[in-house]
Amino acid sequence: MEARATQLDEVRESEERYQLATYKKMSLVAERGEGVWIYARDGEKYLDLYGGHAVAGTGHSHPHVVEAIREQAGKLLFYSNLVYSSTRARAAEKLISIAPVGLTRAFFCNSGTEANENAMRMARMATGRLNIITFTGGFHGRTADSISATFLGKYREIGRPNVPGHLEAEFGDIESVRALADEGVAGIMLEPIQSMAGVRTAEPHFFRALRDLCDERDIVLIYDEVQTGVGRTGDWFFAGSDAGSGVVPDIVTLAKALGSGIPVGACLVSEEIASKIKENDLGTTFGGGMVAMAAVTATLEAIETDAMLENVKAVEAYLRERLSEVPAVVGVHGRGFLLGLEFQEKAAPVHKDLLERKIITGTSSDPNVLRLLPPLCLKTVEVDLFVNALKDIHSSVGS
Ligand SMILES: Cc1ncc(COP(=O)(O)O)c(C=O)c1O
Repeated sequence: MEARATQLDEVRESEERYQLATYKKMSLVAERGEGVWIYARDGEKYLDLYGGHAVAGTGHSHPHVVEAIREQAGKLLFYSNLVYSSTRARAAEKLISIAPVGLTRAFFCNSGTEANENAMRMARMATGRLNIITFTGGFHGRTADSISATFLGKYREIGRPNVPGHLEAEFGDIESVRALADEGVAGIMLEPIQSMAGVRTAEPHFFRALRDLCDERDIVLIYDEVQTGVGRTGDWFFAGSDAGSGVVPDIVTLAKALGSGIPVGACLVSEEIASKIKENDLGTTFGGGMVAMAAVTATLEAIETDAMLENVKAVEAYLRERLSEVPAVVGVHGRGFLLGLEFQEKAAPVHKDLLERKIITGTSSDPNVLRLLPPLCLKTVEVDLFVNALKDIHSSVGS
């Protein structure tokens, strides 16, 4: 026990000594991962229902993804967009083959915030207008334009001075959008399920109304699918799904699970928007790099080969059913493996108690909501472990 504590202390001390103190960390030194499990340096294993901020979609170190990265790393780590690459060609073709109908072009970058910045830029370029409407509770990243589009908690404050031209509407309330959508508006951007805000959803007709409004006023509709994309909801994307009335926006942004842990972001773009983007309008050194592209192709293949979308739907249904046995959970929000469990009381103590039982979950900016963003390969036996732990926590609280 003492040796374990010393190992943790050594790593903690070193990390805290040489890095900025910007992240609150769990008391665990992650060494190795496999599927839904994280193995700590002290030999303990943790059930990961958070996926490292929704990144581990295919599970930790999926063998097919690891092999593809290894193989590409041995051939060519990187060359920029100045050259053609069969690895990049394959990734783009694969991504577009599963993209919502009508989104026919990809632009690769490195992160979610960068994908959103480029999407907003494309909306401005395509329309010649400047303003962007986003929503209370939406989170879009931490670089200047994305943080200015983030009407959640203290983020805009952190990002001051904000980029001008960002307007705030109410999620799910089409009249609040209509009131702002004048001839100065280039784009409307939203998280179709607001994750950080506590996994807030809107009715399917809201998305249809947004699409109609954008068509009527020539506004570019952007879905930030950095969290909801790449299979998390049990569909490849929220765009085009029944939950959103089948609506397809003009641009979808992706990151997180797209590379299974290799940093990569993307914008999926309609032909109409693509036709307005010229050489040198967008760019980034690392975008479309070979290792990232190999990871993208392998990630999408692994999701298909292992039937993960089907798994998400089946295991979500099982999880919801089992959660009905836990009276402390008063609501289950979201879709697929982006779920918010609402408690009558604060969720932070539950998060802590679960961690003591070696189960990693997430909190949110809603104090009563615990977030689950597990790998898409989570199985019913692991759901049982989680639900039994929840029941155990609440029986011991009650006793
Ligand atoms: C919905 C959403 N958009 C954008 C981002 C920013 O992504 P990144 O941290 O890769 O810049 C995040 C990150 O949590 C996110 O959840």
